Amino acid sequence: MSKIDIDKYFKPNLKQAKKRTGDQVEAVRFELSETHKTIGSHKTYQIHTYGCQGNEADSETMSGILEAMGFVKSDVEAQSDVIIINTCAIRENAENRIWGELGRLKQHKLTNPNLVLGVAGCMPQEEYVVERILKKYPHVDLVFGTHNIHKLPYYIETAIFSKERVIEVFSDQGSIIENLPKERGHQKKAWVNIMYGCDEFCTYCIVPYTRGKERSRAKEDILKEVHHLVNQGYMEITLLGQNVNAYGKDFKDQNYTFGDLLLDLDQTGIKRIRFTTSHPHDLDLKTMNAMKNAQHVMPFFHLPVQSGSDRILKKMNRKYTKQSYLDVLKELKKCVPGISVTTDIIVGFPGETLEDFEETMDLVKQAEFEGAFTFVFSKREGTPAATYPDETPEKEKKRRLYLLNQLVNAQYLAGNKRFVGKRVNVLVEGVSKYDDQVLSGYTEHNKLVNFKGNHHDIGKIVSVTITEAKTWFLLGEADA
Ligand code: SAH
Ligand code: SF4
Ligand code: F3S
Repeated sequence: MSKIDIDKYFKPNLKQAKKRTGDQVEAVRFELSETHKTIGSHKTYQIHTYGCQGNEADSETMSGILEAMGFVKSDVEAQSDVIIINTCAIRENAENRIWGELGRLKQHKLTNPNLVLGVAGCMPQEEYVVERILKKYPHVDLVFGTHNIHKLPYYIETAIFSKERVIEVFSDQGSIIENLPKERGHQKKAWVNIMYGCDEFCTYCIVPYTRGKERSRAKEDILKEVHHLVNQGYMEITLLGQNVNAYGKDFKDQNYTFGDLLLDLDQTGIKRIRFTTSHPHDLDLKTMNAMKNAQHVMPFFHLPVQSGSDRILKKMNRKYTKQSYLDVLKELKKCVPGISVTTDIIVGFPGETLEDFEETMDLVKQAEFEGAFTFVFSKREGTPAATYPDETPEKEKKRRLYLLNQLVNAQYLAGNKRFVGKRVNVLVEGVSKYDDQVLSGYTEHNKLVNFKGNHHDIGKIVSVTITEAKTWFLLGEADA
């Protein structure tokens, strides 16, 4: 094999990805050229998605673009003409799974040399990832990042017709692209991006480097998308952003922030409005009041706290204290009585002592979280925390994670128990995997409910009385 000239490609640069200017980003419209519309005819594709809801939404865009090019989604991996892996870089184990997956997919190249195998998403935004793919994964044909999904038609064209490897990753602050086609994964629930990027720079986190700066979509574009979803029969939207509470803070010409957006969306006719993720530092009274006054914003809040120790929160650059977090939560619970709150927590951050960990346990109890995603700290190359001295043994970190999970699970159950005997509204999503007489869906408080019911209720919001609470779900009976 000839030596690969790895410098000829457009590769990522983490230092560059860190730069921020205060300029407002104007949206650009996506248009598909006539020649691109037929490239995929008689061809099929698959997209494998890892990571957060942001990535799921991006995969729906990639599907939308590929289908507009004539590709059809395939059920059989081995027979697909294009396979794209949409990757996540948040923790080392997330990346390891993807390296394994890339190795496994090599077999299809042997039986189908024309297969175009692509790697997209957050991992290609990291320098070492692109170097490693270039050197060790020659069966990968296409590498692009989070900033250039809209160029997919050109990349596919080059990969298919010139049989050249296509590697292009931008490390700029990012743009806003409107008019992107979407092939949505669900018929009643939809993701709606309201902003992209993150300017928080929590010291452990890779996202501000992989997703660019915070930039908000114009409210007109968001409202247009939601009106369209309502007309298509969608019942629930989840507004997406790494820090939705910062929505609108980048607008230069108007004072329009997240609380205003919630109130405007409440008037669109959509039945349920959810959002993720929020940063406690940016959660303001305007948003809480909007939640109180809006009819369709659901009584559920995911508010990542990360740690209960002020010392660790400071080292994480989270910009709040244990007490100020609890104060925000108190205000939120006052505005929306009965609201269900969940969180994200990292244990074993560099320098976390047993006392720091106890502070976290105490906060979890005081906050009465009804669920939490819990993680052991993972070193991300290029982030400040990767250089912090970290002396806690891995075994001790796992022990702390175990203790935390025990507590969180007990609170999960307690949060479910408070609904026993109550009537709740469930958006019915489908039948249970185990019993086709059993329907399942989510309540307004985002609790999963299984109940015996009629298949014609799928896609509707129905009233259910809760009969029993399990740790991970509720059981109920449909009301007459
Ligand atoms: N923007 C969101 C989501 C970020 S990623 C937010 O701020 O909440 C989701 C979660 O992954 C984070 O909340 C954090 O708990 C966890 N996480 C991020 N980086 C991590 C790392 N290096 N090690 C372990 N967990 C991490
Ligand atoms: Fe990462 Fe912090 Fe931004 Fe969330 S707010 S994406 S944890 S830097
Ligand atoms: Fe992962 Fe990127 Fe989302 S790192 S969590 S896919 S923003």
